[in-house]
Amino acid sequence: MTSTQSEYFQKLRQEHVAQGPANITQAIIKKASGAIMTDVDGKEFIDFAGGIGVNNVGHSHPKVVKAIKDQADQFIHTCFHVGMYDSYIELAARLNELTPGNFAKRSMFANSGAEAVENAIKIAKYATKRPAVIAFENGFHGRTLLTMSLTSKIKPYKYGFGPFVPEVYRIPYPYCYRCPLGCKYPDCNMACVDYLESYFITHVDPETVAAIIAEPIQGEGGFVTPPPEYFPRLADICKKYGILLILDEVQSGAGRTGKFLAIEHWGIEPDIITMAKSLAGGMPLSAITGRQELMDAPHPGGLGGTYSGNPISCKAALAVLEILFEDKLLERSKELGDTLIERFTDLQKSHEIIGDVRGKGPMLALELVKDRHTKEPATEEAKRLTQICYDKGLVLLSCGNFGNVMRTLMPFVITDEQLDKGLSILEESLEEVAR
Ligand SMILES: Cc1ncc(COP(=O)(O)O)c(C=O)c1O
Repeated sequence: MTSTQSEYFQKLRQEHVAQGPANITQAIIKKASGAIMTDVDGKEFIDFAGGIGVNNVGHSHPKVVKAIKDQADQFIHTCFHVGMYDSYIELAARLNELTPGNFAKRSMFANSGAEAVENAIKIAKYATKRPAVIAFENGFHGRTLLTMSLTSKIKPYKYGFGPFVPEVYRIPYPYCYRCPLGCKYPDCNMACVDYLESYFITHVDPETVAAIIAEPIQGEGGFVTPPPEYFPRLADICKKYGILLILDEVQSGAGRTGKFLAIEHWGIEPDIITMAKSLAGGMPLSAITGRQELMDAPHPGGLGGTYSGNPISCKAALAVLEILFEDKLLERSKELGDTLIERFTDLQKSHEIIGDVRGKGPMLALELVKDRHTKEPATEEAKRLTQICYDKGLVLLSCGNFGNVMRTLMPFVITDEQLDKGLSILEESLEEVAR
């Protein structure tokens, strides 16, 4: 029996590639364009995953491809520390302008989301001369030693990889569907923010805390979306104790929620923001943007890296910003969000398994439960749903502590027809799972 190309490469993968970098699907991709991926055997998939939130402007957007090719023709690498280039500097200026806060800012670049978070924490510690950091339950910030220490979920991210970085403290996140304090919104009056005051008595002295780092909407943690009052109240507490507020927009940024940054929905001005994923349309790039006095605190040479802010990635990011703002893809993102929320709310009415629908813009999620009253996570059902969707040609990812939250991260260039087809597959597959 002759095997398919996919089977051939899947076998080769088993024989030669470590198992740590796990595969959510078995697809071996040959080509991807817009919102469609095609595997080596010609099977097409509608992409609701976007390479885990990286392809907001679509796979191989022609303007991003052109920017990459043009830059490669000029030069590929000089190292910013050795020979500067226009795209790094222009991108820094653009991000300083686009991020919230009417104050002087500075930006710098790195290669991955984790590296952006590492740098943000280094800057915060240096600027405040304080050693501690507070992160959140369900938070995800990466897989390096520091970012893994900030990350909450043990398996698979932290298990067996300790000891972790000291002086990392953890507080509950406003996960209203499963309130960690057992409260009910809005009667709780945001007890989770007030909890910080007692936390500062029993866990950590606020005068030793450099920063609180939060995702505006938790990505891997389950698209958990805080109520409108949360971040303004958190920012007040930070101000009261001289603690910096770092917003990790690695997954929620670059237009994912219908605004350039998710935190714009809450109207606050963070001290430092980290961005990555969709920022450079698939090229490895991350950014750290913050208040000038903080960003300029570390001495020259204290930050950076050989590949950080690669010229091809910076040019790709400038193209992404042009596409989002000039080609009005941010508006398309809002439009997608409106369609999705309508379809998902309808779906929830007819499907008991959907316990919660949440998110902003097209960063939306369905939390699956076995029973709406007990809220027992429907983990196995979510796994089956992912597989059935995949078999029918839709790539859809789950997230959350129990793996029971289905999330949408499709490219904004998805056509109405592709979106409709993808949603129909999701609906049909839900029927099968719920049966
Ligand atoms: C909010 C957030 N921060 C940081 C990271 C880490 O990014 P990377 O995988 O590029 O290191 C991720 C990745 O999913 C993320 O969602």
